[in-house]
Amino acid sequence: MSIVGKSFLSSEQLSEKDIDQLFSRAMLFKREFESRKRIDHLVKGEALHQKVMALVFSEASTRTRMSFQVAASRLGMKTVVLDNPSIASLSKGESLGDTLRNIAAMLPDVMVVRYNTNLEADSVVRALPCPVISGGIGMFEHPTQALLDAFTIRENRQQLRGEKILFVGDVLHSRVANSNLMLLRRLGCEVAYCAPAQFEPQTENWKGVRGFETLIEGIEWASVIMGLRVQKERHQSTGIGFSMAEYREQFRIGGDQLKNFKDVGILLHPGPVIRGIEFSATVLNDKRCKVLDQVTNGVFVRASLISLILGLEVGQA
Ligand code: NCD
Repeated sequence: MSIVGKSFLSSEQLSEKDIDQLFSRAMLFKREFESRKRIDHLVKGEALHQKVMALVFSEASTRTRMSFQVAASRLGMKTVVLDNPSIASLSKGESLGDTLRNIAAMLPDVMVVRYNTNLEADSVVRALPCPVISGGIGMFEHPTQALLDAFTIRENRQQLRGEKILFVGDVLHSRVANSNLMLLRRLGCEVAYCAPAQFEPQTENWKGVRGFETLIEGIEWASVIMGLRVQKERHQSTGIGFSMAEYREQFRIGGDQLKNFKDVGILLHPGPVIRGIEFSATVLNDKRCKVLDQVTNGVFVRASLISLILGLEVGQA
């Protein structure tokens, strides 16, 4: 696997072969956990209880941070977390780059980082002495979310090639949509979006990607709907004026919209879902909604990724 000992910062980094290996291992972990409630015994040779993962999160996180911690714990590793910048030296004036350098100097075996756009931190991350996994950086990358989304699509739809993925909502500010665009296209999916005019994607990567004018047209086309959270915290810097009521009116997915969706289609959302704005309660209870499956899969996909980066051999004893 080409990722042994390396950082994982972009969903562009993995070849199809890497992804296959990563998904097979994630599947093995998931099945084993379902039957034996543990996966640590599948890891060969190494004393994993000696390995330490350091997590540095300077932006809010529930799922991603805890999922990495649960994944590492299931493998038998220890985790240490810095997730409250207001009590850290960042609040005393230390730069994020220097904070990262100092934590790396404690010699963790692997680090997971999340932060908003920060060019200094980007270059520090690339030069740290241990592998670094992106837990979501700025508006452009959230590669482990894209991996767990692709895994969930394959699990439910039995394939990725030819699947029709519709992103709905704040595509412009979504690192989840960006990382997914790169990964899912590589894996043979067709990708499209339906977004309010001020949230349409602008970057080069999105050139030529189909945009649907109305939600109904997009939903009829799709086999997978991926809702996105409205990234209010990122709108101030871009100066976008915006009404939640208007958004809800045109882009909320509810029971009525689902009448036009394939019976065998699935709905995804990276979370947090703002109930009543992106998805209605009816949608969250629909059997096609796989939001909690995504969360479960995130643990096994991340455990697989961590074990591959650490160069661990895995298999039945
Ligand atoms: C996303 C994130 O932080 O980019 N959430 C996640 O990691 N599961 C999406 C979001 O916050 O809207």
